[in-house]
Amino acid sequence: MSTLVQEIAKRRTFGIISHPDAGKTTLTEKLLLFGGAIQMAGAVKSRKTALHATSDWMAVERERGISVSTSVMKFHYRDFEINLLDTPGHQDFSEDTYRVLTAVDSALMVIDSGKGVETQTRKLMEVCRMRNTPIITFVNKLDRDGLEPLALLEDIEDKLQIECAPLSWPIGMGKGFKGVYDLRQRQIALFTPSRDTRPEDCVVLRDLASPELDRLVGADAAARLRDDVALLQGAANPFDFDEYRRAGQTPVFFGSAINNFGVRELLDAFVELAPPPGPRATLTRTVAPEEEAFTGFTFKIQANMDPAHRDRIAFFRICSGKFTRGMKVMHHRLGKEIGLGNVTVFMAQERSNVDEAWPGDIIGIHNHGTIKIGDTFTDREPLKFTGIPNFAPEHFRRVVLNNPLGIKKLQKGLLQMAEEGAVQVFRPLVGNDYILGAVGILQFEITMARLKDEYGVEAGSEPLNFGLARWVECEDPKVLAEFEKKNQFNLAYDAEGRLSYLAEGEWRLAHTQELFPDVVFLKTRESA
Ligand code: G4P
Repeated sequence: MSTLVQEIAKRRTFGIISHPDAGKTTLTEKLLLFGGAIQMAGAVKSRKTALHATSDWMAVERERGISVSTSVMKFHYRDFEINLLDTPGHQDFSEDTYRVLTAVDSALMVIDSGKGVETQTRKLMEVCRMRNTPIITFVNKLDRDGLEPLALLEDIEDKLQIECAPLSWPIGMGKGFKGVYDLRQRQIALFTPSRDTRPEDCVVLRDLASPELDRLVGADAAARLRDDVALLQGAANPFDFDEYRRAGQTPVFFGSAINNFGVRELLDAFVELAPPPGPRATLTRTVAPEEEAFTGFTFKIQANMDPAHRDRIAFFRICSGKFTRGMKVMHHRLGKEIGLGNVTVFMAQERSNVDEAWPGDIIGIHNHGTIKIGDTFTDREPLKFTGIPNFAPEHFRRVVLNNPLGIKKLQKGLLQMAEEGAVQVFRPLVGNDYILGAVGILQFEITMARLKDEYGVEAGSEPLNFGLARWVECEDPKVLAEFEKKNQFNLAYDAEGRLSYLAEGEWRLAHTQELFPDVVFLKTRESA
């Protein structure tokens, strides 16, 4: 087997989808702890705690190293090389959160057992559906009284329209939660609840009938578990590997991230079941990861907040071939060759100074604004990867310029930030406003702060009464003209000149759709 094929088989590149507070940060820490990438819990959390206010966020981003290093967390587990891509939540929830999911091969969904499926999880799940991304589910916080496990499975199936197949099962719940039974391995790993438990610190029981089980978890919990397991054999969906890989079924694990319950079962299953880097579509053909020629695309741009350094880091997912530092690649949008010398290779802790990377890996390319979201680089062949879209914003503000002389700088700044995917910029058909659109509201404050710092533009923003946007397409020019005439106050062009319809809410959109059935309203659009 070639080194390339071996390296691909070892890789798992994934992101975590969850609603704020479900336990994403805690689980991330446990995974890093199990992978030996951090020595103690608290290392990831400390960044999150620093993000409570916008001003703190700006300060943290200034120390570029911190946010860059948590954007891609790389660790080993068993024989696997795992790339965990951060999906920013809470205040820093943005289009990046969605777009990161276009660069992963699978996702892990964290659900709070007390709350079931929540809104942000639904939205992120929609993004996963676009590429049929396989999803493994972890139901967290079983140490608290929450919904019954079966009710949780039903909730996931109902709200997310995906079949659930439990692969672990909780032993007790709330105060009486003892651990989980691994339905796949048919064994129980009992941990002592503690923040820093490692995989080896547990008692493993292989026999469900063993009296040892009664002794360790109590007779009641043991009896309940035996009943549950018998019931599940008849009632639960059996796990179907192919269905999981097709994203039609999600294997479900139960546990408590903070207590380390169920995390090892989850991680073992993850590395064994989750897909390695797979083929990716381009406009012209599908690229297989095993192809020797290097290819990949940019899915995220991080600006340096320090005004003295205008450089940006482009996060680039390798799709095929091998990266070596200093190699030359074709930047197809600009039609010129660029050198990949000034690159951050995200590496597992103990292997610094490694200058190569493989499909599934992420590299950070330093540049001065020459790279946009969706840019494809290859050895030679002109290709353009698809499926790295812009997502319809949900929050809108009108830019108010404090000094009208700053209009040129404003235009330049907004255009550049739109290219980075930080915020979307619309020009209404009627009037001279600049409208900003974002998926998360923190983006507005960041945009204003960056306009001031990087472009010297003093501007503020005012709320607008829009709540959604759709890109509009229509084959019949007459219908389109009529549509534009009737909806002129709701129409705008985005930064790439694409016609967009902005509406107050779903009801308004539905009404317009009824009036214009031949107009197509799109929630995403590919960049040019
Ligand atoms: P997030 O990244 O998804 O937003 O969630 P995070 O891990 O920060 O967890 C949110 C809260 O839930 C935290 O409490 C965390 O300690 C708690 N939590 C995580 N996993 C579990 C679990 O298995 N059981 C229980 N009972 N709680 C859990 P916090 O009060 O916000 O923070 P902290 O003071 O505990 O750090």
